[in-house]
Amino acid sequence: MCGIVGYIGPREAYPILIKGLKRLEYRGYDSAGIAILNDNLQVFKCKGKVSALEAFVQGKPLHATMGMAHTRWATHGEPNDVNAHPHYSQSESLAVIHNGIIENYAILKEGLIKSGFTFQSNTDTEVLVQLIEYFKNSGISLLEAVQLALNQTVGAYAIVVLSKNDPDLMIAARKGSPLVVGIGKDEFFLASDASPIIEYTKDVVYLEDEEIAILQRGQKLKVKTISDVETFPQVHTLELNISQLEKGGYEHFMLKEIFEQPDTIRDSFRGRIQLENNTITMAGIIDHLDKFLNARRIIMTAAGTSWHACLVGEYIFEELLRIPVEVEYSSEFRYRKPVLYNDDILIAVSQSGETADTLAAIHLAKSHGAFIYGICNVVGSSIARATDAGSYTHAGPEIGVASTKAFTAQVTVLTLMALAIAQKKGTISEERLKEIMIALTEIPAKVTQILNKAKEIQEFSKYYTYTRNALYLGRGYNFPVALEGALKLKEISYIHAEGYPAAEMKHGPIALIDREMPVVVIAPNKGHYDKVVSNIQEVKARKGRLISIITEGDVTVKELSDHYVEIPETEEMLIPLLATIPLQLMAYYIAVFRECNVDQPRNLAKSVTVE
Ligand code: G6P
Repeated sequence: MCGIVGYIGPREAYPILIKGLKRLEYRGYDSAGIAILNDNLQVFKCKGKVSALEAFVQGKPLHATMGMAHTRWATHGEPNDVNAHPHYSQSESLAVIHNGIIENYAILKEGLIKSGFTFQSNTDTEVLVQLIEYFKNSGISLLEAVQLALNQTVGAYAIVVLSKNDPDLMIAARKGSPLVVGIGKDEFFLASDASPIIEYTKDVVYLEDEEIAILQRGQKLKVKTISDVETFPQVHTLELNISQLEKGGYEHFMLKEIFEQPDTIRDSFRGRIQLENNTITMAGIIDHLDKFLNARRIIMTAAGTSWHACLVGEYIFEELLRIPVEVEYSSEFRYRKPVLYNDDILIAVSQSGETADTLAAIHLAKSHGAFIYGICNVVGSSIARATDAGSYTHAGPEIGVASTKAFTAQVTVLTLMALAIAQKKGTISEERLKEIMIALTEIPAKVTQILNKAKEIQEFSKYYTYTRNALYLGRGYNFPVALEGALKLKEISYIHAEGYPAAEMKHGPIALIDREMPVVVIAPNKGHYDKVVSNIQEVKARKGRLISIITEGDVTVKELSDHYVEIPETEEMLIPLLATIPLQLMAYYIAVFRECNVDQPRNLAKSVTVE
């Protein structure tokens, strides 16, 4: 949800800023802008992607050694040139970029208009920069003006402020939206995540809520709160490497990430499964074992694809642990009045670790005394830091907006957690534990076998290029897979798709089935195979076009299918790790045939830091 980059130091700022924006473009891409500070404070911005900004600034005087840049995902005000960031203050002596939402902008704006301020844009951000100017006009320092303004601000922000009259100073602050400070030799970097920083320095500081970073040329990093208390944040060392942020020969990040799954799944269980002594080691669980053993119930919360991973987790936890599990959309959970006990465990699952609703759900559960466990992909993210304990998924940076490898990594970690707790709780026998552990270690090779069918999947996907709707059906463990398959298709190809529990089809969607309607059925030979076959017959009787995901060697469903993909046999609870792969590929190829922007689908953003 909007990407922010900043630089101050001896180097030319523009190339660093533009490269940084490209790394952050997954966060939003409806407009982009840049401000540089030399003798003057200059802002260049326009509607469109970062490439449009690059074209727009061609030939403009951009020489400067400090500046900031922004790629936007619109919240307040349509995506156009004027609403793009940075925003100038009235006198054009200040400029601000912002990620987040200023909730009380209307009332602040009213006050500022009464004080003689006029506004160019419809954004909440412009209100903030004018407010800073309002305070600064009283003769106080830039830092004091920023502190006063932020004290009046309700909502979420990560901001960077430049001031024409403070030529060697850059101020940045955060609350709710992420902001990382990179510390180099005589230089500082700012970014929404570490990806624009990694090629210059590995030393970073993650700002906490209500902290302000004061980046003064030639001085050490200074951090103060908005109430002017100095803090001394820990410097972390990044473990990212630059090749993880590049396409590595693939046409799209999404395709690269789909193909990375044998490795990422392995990385998720590496070091955690010890087949030799039949144990699973997860530090977050061992350190808080009593919580898990005494939990009254487990609530899993997330959004989007991560929510689908939770649904798979629910089936696994209930089967292995015999503890009631509830899966909640974090956006609903946070605003309901949920009944929460202090012996509840909340498991928050998030690829980015920044989803605003999931973070709010954590705070809510915490305030009721629940124990909070996080499953995040991005190391050092807000959710990772807000939880009592947790496990990283180790899938590496996921850049394609449609989540793929993060999902299979989340399911892997949830499986490991359930197995580890079940062993301690005694709800699984040692033999059964071993069987599932072995099956899990075999998953990466099986994923590779499915990926080897990519050509086949590409071939038949072209028949669905012009389809307008699609139905995805699955039962049991594969119901969440149906939801995830449908989500992938609609996200990147803009084809309307619905995931449904196969039997529920009779209660509505069956009315939609005709020869135009592709129905994707996940029909492995485990679980409720016969029941699914009956559901397939119901589809065929209405002339629906059947695409099936079947177990190798299946004959019955294969014969009924227009197209099928065979997946290797595995434990029932692990089937989602295999069955999801062909659905990801199918969605990808259909979107490519439709000439859609696969990595940056319209209206979406990878990290949703607003409600
Ligand atoms: C956005 C992304 C999805 C993601 C969801 C939850 O909608 O486009 O891919 O599943 O947010 O994000 P999280 O980072 O919390 O998993």
